[in-house]
Amino acid sequence: MQKISVKGGKTLKGTVEISGSKNATLPVMTAALLAESPSVIHNVPYLNDIKTMAQVLHTLGSTACLEDHRLHIDPKGFNKFEAPYELVKTMRASIYSLGACLARLGEAKVSLPGGCAIGARPIDLHLKGVEQLGAKVTIEHGYIHAKATKLKGSTIYLAGPHGPSVGATVNVLMAATAAEGTTVIESASTEPEVVDLVNFLKAMGAHIEGGGTARLVIEGQKTLKGIDYSVIPDRVEAGTFMVAAAITRGDVLLKKAEAAHMTAVSDKLRQIGVTVEESTEGIRVKGGGSYKPSDVWILPYPGFPTDMQAQIMALLAVVPGVSVITETIWENRFMHVFELNRMGAEINIDRSHAVVKGVPKLTGAPVMASDLRASAALILAGLVAEGETLVQRIYHLDRGYEKIEQKLSALGADIQRTN
Ligand code: EPZ
Repeated sequence: MQKISVKGGKTLKGTVEISGSKNATLPVMTAALLAESPSVIHNVPYLNDIKTMAQVLHTLGSTACLEDHRLHIDPKGFNKFEAPYELVKTMRASIYSLGACLARLGEAKVSLPGGCAIGARPIDLHLKGVEQLGAKVTIEHGYIHAKATKLKGSTIYLAGPHGPSVGATVNVLMAATAAEGTTVIESASTEPEVVDLVNFLKAMGAHIEGGGTARLVIEGQKTLKGIDYSVIPDRVEAGTFMVAAAITRGDVLLKKAEAAHMTAVSDKLRQIGVTVEESTEGIRVKGGGSYKPSDVWILPYPGFPTDMQAQIMALLAVVPGVSVITETIWENRFMHVFELNRMGAEINIDRSHAVVKGVPKLTGAPVMASDLRASAALILAGLVAEGETLVQRIYHLDRGYEKIEQKLSALGADIQRTN
């Protein structure tokens, strides 16, 4: 099994290019099935989750071919409506086939995704949304079976106990493009990845108003055509490299990063004492000087993103003083705490709060990654830990970070993948 070895103590310097967004590409891929002609998606990262979604598309009868960061999707043969357990268990975003299949084929059969390392991950809002559009939903033998002879526009309130849902907004948006009349999604997700999907659908010919706001209005039943489209840069990858520059007290220019998507992360880093400069070239992050502790509330966009919670924790673990991180989205997203503590961090969990007492130094250790962003946090900690950190279970990392060790190594980190 592959591992990543990091030897701490190097200061990162130079330029890194941020890849296309994984979480924007996945919904855009399924939305390409709504058109009658092929689409070409540009800026697509080479990641295992993208390969898994391409397999989902193949299973549904379409083609998806990735070449030189361009993904060619031809929905011509899209005539199957089942996303099997083998694929959904590998990647939960396979559930996006629910909205696409209902919209084009009037029927969807999708394996029920279970919980995962970061939380229970219910899908009640997805089901509520498509039911309100007129689909009849049954759950049997571990599968969601949704059927609709005709989808009809409706007003749907889509917030759950933790606020809006990215995935439910994606599914309902796709289904609503085929519904007769007007659909209004209240409390829609405003995350940049959802806005990217809205922009993609609009460019395909869909009538959608309110992208980036909590109220989306969709006029359904427009014929959609395939298009060329470039997905947004990955804001979580960008944030991870911003923390890498900060934690090593380095100086890194992030090319192609979208500053407008990074305001919560940039603001937090500035509060801590890191210099963050925005220019037409990208975002430049300069670490150094004395850092201050800071409290972080994880919230839906434009709040501080849950997908950056583990990474900011790695930084605060070595900032003198006490910081409190409150996770409000995923109830179990603190698994990295135990591994960071094995590296010498002093972090205590009290329900949804992690109390981080900054320590003067971390020491390298063999550690186990529990999810994608936890893996990144352990690498960040390894960059400043004394000695070697050996990160295991890096298959999580390969789902969401394109060539992370090559990119870090080019900035001067002592990092390599080992077998
Ligand atoms: C997306 O997951 C992202 N995944 C996650 O990133 C991210 O952490 C999350 O949004 C929040 O930003 C992708 O884009 C592929 P949600 P998603 O539905 O859509 C509750 C990563 O590391 N909820 O917005 O599954 C849910 O329990 C991944 O790249 C319901 O209650 O998240 C959570 O508390 C991890 N009922 C909150 O809403 C539902 O039906 C937000 O979840 C659906 C969700």
